[in-house]
Amino acid sequence: MPHPEFLPIQWKSTYLELLDQRILPGKKEFLKLSSAEETIVAIREMAVRGAPAIAITGVFGLTLGAKSQSGVANPEDIETLLSSVLESRPTAVNLSYAILEAKKRIQGNSGWESITKIWETYGLEMMRDDLAANKALGENGVSLFPKDQKEFHIITHCNTGALATAGHGTALGVIRSLRDAGKKVVVYADETRPFLQGSRLTAFEMMEEGIECYIITDGMSGWLMNHRKIDAVLVGCDRVAANGDTANKIGTYNLGIVAKEHGVPFYVCATKDSFDLNLKTGEEIPIEMRKESEVTQFDFLKGSDGKYLFPEGKTSPVGARALNPSFDVTKAHLIKNFITEFGCFVPAEISLRLKNV
Ligand code: MRU
Repeated sequence: MPHPEFLPIQWKSTYLELLDQRILPGKKEFLKLSSAEETIVAIREMAVRGAPAIAITGVFGLTLGAKSQSGVANPEDIETLLSSVLESRPTAVNLSYAILEAKKRIQGNSGWESITKIWETYGLEMMRDDLAANKALGENGVSLFPKDQKEFHIITHCNTGALATAGHGTALGVIRSLRDAGKKVVVYADETRPFLQGSRLTAFEMMEEGIECYIITDGMSGWLMNHRKIDAVLVGCDRVAANGDTANKIGTYNLGIVAKEHGVPFYVCATKDSFDLNLKTGEEIPIEMRKESEVTQFDFLKGSDGKYLFPEGKTSPVGARALNPSFDVTKAHLIKNFITEFGCFVPAEISLRLKNV
């Protein structure tokens, strides 16, 4: 669990409190959201991010939307509310499942008051279930690492920790569980351009936990695998197609190829809500395109006078164009195992394993 001061999502009955992940680690500020609209903006602008956290926040957004109404609910208004939250971010399938389930749970209820209660209960239930799933996933992940080895060096990408979930995390959950099992873990956190979830959030979480962590830029993993013994790559996911192709933060695919080249096991950590068996392959996964400015602006270079070299944070010529796909798809053949709360298995086993959960 993160330090109580850093809990990313807190439901406060009349409003939702979100730790603003856009400004971490520099500033620790909480957003107080009291409407569905504000919640949608917070998801879209990534004040909250990470597939499970987005889904939980989405359900509390629905709750706030329902709470602001009274009397009998018009079915069209319910549909509008559900679809506006659904559209906030497209790639992670967790949010789609949450919206479907939220719709199912209110069948036969026509009053906004009872709908509010049902969605509030569902949001709180999701938080409990996600935490339990992460802990089980973490334990299952530990079983893949040799028992007699005391120290593991692991590369991870993006942030899949307590900040991206209801607590513990998926890929970072396995790392936490290895540490809890008495192992020394050394983490190499891909910086994860352009939003810097690795350097800002993963490094922050690892330091909070006292786990040794080195930030590397996204292009350094090949060098690292050549020069140090890396035991595994652990990543999270936003949507897994039936054949095992996996959408995750942009750069994951490159990491998968480099890992394969070096014979380093590449593990995808996923809870059951990450699998989308309606999609045959990763080609069908919708990939979110984000603003070009996330790629073209960056403010870290200072001149000898101590002033920023690029006062507006621009590190590219004015008018330069950029591409910003926020996710990519790692092909199934690059993945050694999925690590889930219901066991570890190879991509070819997905359909069979999902039948029993
Ligand atoms: O754009 P983000 O920060 O929401 O992307 C997050 C990721 O890609 C994570 O790896 C994924 O959601 C899994 S989080 C347990």
